[in-house]
Amino acid sequence: MELSTTIAGLREHLAARRADGAAVGLVPTMGYLHRGHASLIDAAARDTDEVVVTVFVNPLQFAPGEDLDAYPRDLDGDSAMAAAHGATTMFVPDLVEMYPGEVATTVSVAGVSESMEGASRPTHFAGVATVVAKLFSIVGPCRAYFGEKDFQQLAVIRRLASDLSMPVDVVGCPIVRESDGLAMSSRNVYLTPAERDAAPVLHRALLHGASLVAAGAVDPAAVRRAMTEVIESEPLVSLDYVEVADPADLRPVRRCTPEVRLFGAVRFGRARLIDNVAVADVGAGDGVVAP
Ligand code: PAJ
Repeated sequence: MELSTTIAGLREHLAARRADGAAVGLVPTMGYLHRGHASLIDAAARDTDEVVVTVFVNPLQFAPGEDLDAYPRDLDGDSAMAAAHGATTMFVPDLVEMYPGEVATTVSVAGVSESMEGASRPTHFAGVATVVAKLFSIVGPCRAYFGEKDFQQLAVIRRLASDLSMPVDVVGCPIVRESDGLAMSSRNVYLTPAERDAAPVLHRALLHGASLVAAGAVDPAAVRRAMTEVIESEPLVSLDYVEVADPADLRPVRRCTPEVRLFGAVRFGRARLIDNVAVADVGAGDGVVAP
C-alpha cells in the first residue's frame, strides 16, 4: 500500500494508475478505522482497482467545545486495516496540507443539511461538505463510498456532487453493527463499560419506532414519543433528538409511510451517538421493545 501525505504526490500517483487503466475508488474517513470503515473499503475494492482511503480529522466540521482534540487516532492500526481490506493507497495529509491558510471558500448544502444533525450542530455539514469537495477535487473522477450510519451526511454529499457536477459516483453502504445492535463508531471508544452496556438502547428505540410504523402507525409525534420513552428508560443516556424523516429530503414527515426513516442522537457522558433505521429493517410486530 502506498502512503501519500501531499496533494501533489497523490495526484501524480493517481494519474499514473489511471494511465494504466485503473478505476479509482475513494473512502474518506477520519481514521481510527473499525469494521464499518472496513466494509466501505471492501466495497471499493470489489468495484475499483485503485482504492484510496483518506485519513484526516477535519477541524472544519467540529464546533468549538466538541471533541476535535480528543478524537481517537491510530495511524498504524488504520494502515494495517486498510491494507488488509484492499486499500492500495492511504492519503494522510496534515492540517497545513489541507488548509494552508485561512479558509475563504466553503461549501454549504441547503435543505438536506438543515434538519436533525444540521439543527444540533449548525456548522457541521458545511465543514463536511467543504472537506469532501476538496477530496473530490484532489482525487478526480472516482466512485466514492460513504456509510448509511451517517445517513444525512450521505444525502448532503450526494447533493453536493450532483449540484456541482462533480465527476464522482457516490455509493451508500449499509450500517455495520456490534452483535447487540450498537452501530460501530470511532466515538464508541469514549463509552465507559456501563455506558457501553446501555448504548444499544438507541438502536432498540429506533427499531421500536420502525415496528410501530410497520404495524400501521401514521402519526410521527406518537412514534417519536414511543422512541423517547424507550430512550428515557435508560438512566445513563440523555436524548438529543429522535425524528421520523423522509429519506430523500431528510425533513420530518407529517404522516408515516413505509418509506420513512427513523433517526436518533443521544449522549452518554462525553460520547454523542447517532443512528438510523429504515422501516424495512424490521418486520411488522418484530423488534417491539417494551418502554
Ligand atoms: P468517519 O466518521 O471516520 O466515517 C467515515 C465513513 O465511514 C463515513 O462514510 C461513515 O458513514 C462510515 N461509517 C462509520 N461508521 C460506520 C458503520 N458502523 N457502518 C457503516 N459505515 C460507517 O464521516 C466521516 O468520517 C467524516 O465526516 C468524513 C466524511 C470523512 C469527512 O470528514
